[in-house]
Amino acid sequence: MSIVLLSLAALCWGVASPEPTIQCGSENGPSPEWKVQHTLTPGDLRDLRVEPVKIHVVPDEYSLLMNISWMLRADASIRLLKATKICVTSKSSFQSYTCMRCNYTEAFHWQTRPSGAKWTFSYIGFPVELNTVYFIGAHNIPTANMNEDGPSLSVNFTSPGCLDHIMKYKKKCIEAGSLWDPNITACKKNEKSVEVNFTTSPLGDRYMALVQNNTVLGFSTVWESKLTRTSVVVPVSGESEGAVIQLTPYFRTCGHDCIRRKGTVVLCPKPDSHSPLDNNRKVLGSWLPVLLLALLVAMWVLVVGICLLRRHERVKTSFPAATLLPPTKVLLVYPSEICFQHTVCYFTEFLQNQCRSEVILEKWQKKKIAEMGPVQWLTTQKKAVDKVIFLLSNDVNTMCDACCKSESTSSENSQDLFPLAFNLFCSDLTSSTCPHKYMVVYFRETETKEDYNALNVCPKYCLMKDATVFCKELHIKQHVSARKKSQACHNC
Ligand SMILES: *[C@@H]1O[C@H](CO)[C@@H](O)[C@H](O)[C@H]1NC(C)=O
Ligand SMILES: *[C@@H]1O[C@H](CO)[C@@H](O)[C@H](O)[C@H]1NC(C)=O
Ligand SMILES: *[C@@H]1O[C@H](CO)[C@@H](O)[C@H](O)[C@H]1NC(C)=O
Ligand SMILES: *[C@@H]1O[C@H](CO)[C@@H](O)[C@H](O)[C@H]1NC(C)=O
Ligand SMILES: *[C@@H]1O[C@H](CO)[C@@H](O)[C@H](O)[C@H]1NC(C)=O
Ligand SMILES: *[C@@H]1O[C@H](CO)[C@@H](O)[C@H](O)[C@H]1NC(C)=O
Repeated sequence: MSIVLLSLAALCWGVASPEPTIQCGSENGPSPEWKVQHTLTPGDLRDLRVEPVKIHVVPDEYSLLMNISWMLRADASIRLLKATKICVTSKSSFQSYTCMRCNYTEAFHWQTRPSGAKWTFSYIGFPVELNTVYFIGAHNIPTANMNEDGPSLSVNFTSPGCLDHIMKYKKKCIEAGSLWDPNITACKKNEKSVEVNFTTSPLGDRYMALVQNNTVLGFSTVWESKLTRTSVVVPVSGESEGAVIQLTPYFRTCGHDCIRRKGTVVLCPKPDSHSPLDNNRKVLGSWLPVLLLALLVAMWVLVVGICLLRRHERVKTSFPAATLLPPTKVLLVYPSEICFQHTVCYFTEFLQNQCRSEVILEKWQKKKIAEMGPVQWLTTQKKAVDKVIFLLSNDVNTMCDACCKSESTSSENSQDLFPLAFNLFCSDLTSSTCPHKYMVVYFRETETKEDYNALNVCPKYCLMKDATVFCKELHIKQHVSARKKSQACHNC
């Protein structure tokens, strides 16, 4: 009888008592329960999940945290459960390990929620960094005794980069333009030009609009430091309808490796011809004197314009003139830490399409290098090419880490040819020979590394700022072989 009463009372109390919630606090050391012997311990967790969430801190600023959720096993051992401990190990540039302990505010009287669903809880905490591997483990408290294997559950979580719909709210991503909406519209005005409109951002002051389908058809640089809608006409050298317009921003924090945007070139709407023909004629009649006068003025402007243009053309030898010359053979040398996909590919594309050059890259001649050996290969290439370009790296940008990593792991066995090429060609690097064979190109202002001081005598070009001069210079060929090499070679 008393047993029945007691259990009835327990039942009533159980129903009336509030549902357990969690209270979490950090506990990096062992839990106090660990030092005590327990005859019975709760079972392990049923499920453990992790996802990034953004939490508003102040307007326009977010915290990116982990939402760790877990499900409890619906068995009798739940009555013994006091807390769940979660530990996170992150493996980025440095390893870190932190733990949180979440106490249940009430004891569990039921294996499931009153609704029949399993008990689930979630804890939001642990900051999430970009492109990082996390190892998340969780176990119930009281833990198993000291010499027993404790039940625990663990999951791996790799945080995505700035292109993710949540991670884009990371401050670093916002600064790289993840929230910038350029709303690109582009249309083919005629065979020779494409009009591109887009919204600029206060994050930077320079943009490059590039029209391409398979090859680059043309590009223009836009300077604008405020948030505004801008319009630029890009001269193109081929069929542009349906081509892709790539907008590259150069923002302060990401420089050459900012997030690029794309759009499609459509046909410009034709100015509509509304009024009927006779109506037109009537209008034309009444406006004829005015039109004639306008025509005269226009002709005068044209004549003056042509004169000015002629004079101007005589002064400058421009970009298109250079493109008529035969292609220049170029050996491109770059340090291994440079982002291949972003920087080297992009620059090669530029050399081939904008400067009419034939580019030789170590990456495309792996087999040959393996056969000949790097020194022999470099020596042969040096003789065969018109120019050797040293592409200097801008500082390591974590934004592009992910893509670089995947690139570099695929070619683990490749060696860095940059120092080798530098040492090999070093004796040529004197002020008299350098300008004719060797060039230094960089995308962001950097100091030449101590070891490579000898490069300082070579002409340096900052792209895209010096693009025109650079392309022109690329086509001035001179044979250095006849010149005597200087003995003095510093830093070699
Ligand atoms: C959880 O419980 C343990 C042991 O009772 C206690 O030491 C700890 O302070 C509690 N933590 C929180 C966040 O309440
Ligand atoms: C965290 O995850 C749980 C379980 O998936 C979900 O119910 C909860 O809404 C999430 N919290 C946030 C802030 O997204
Ligand atoms: C998590 O990743 C580590 C290292 O990459 C691996 O050893 C482990 O098996 C993974 N664990 C799970 C649960 O996927
Ligand atoms: C994008 O630009 C077009 C044309 O200027 C405009 O109609 C549209 O509303 C803009 N969209 C957004 C999201 O700003
Ligand atoms: C670009 O903007 C100009 C001026 O607002 C407008 O006349 C033109 O139609 C726009 N072009 C495109 C391709 O959106
Ligand atoms: C891309 O450009 C090439 C060269 O101008 C042209 O032959 C080709 O038809 C173009 N392709 C598309 C899809 O417009």
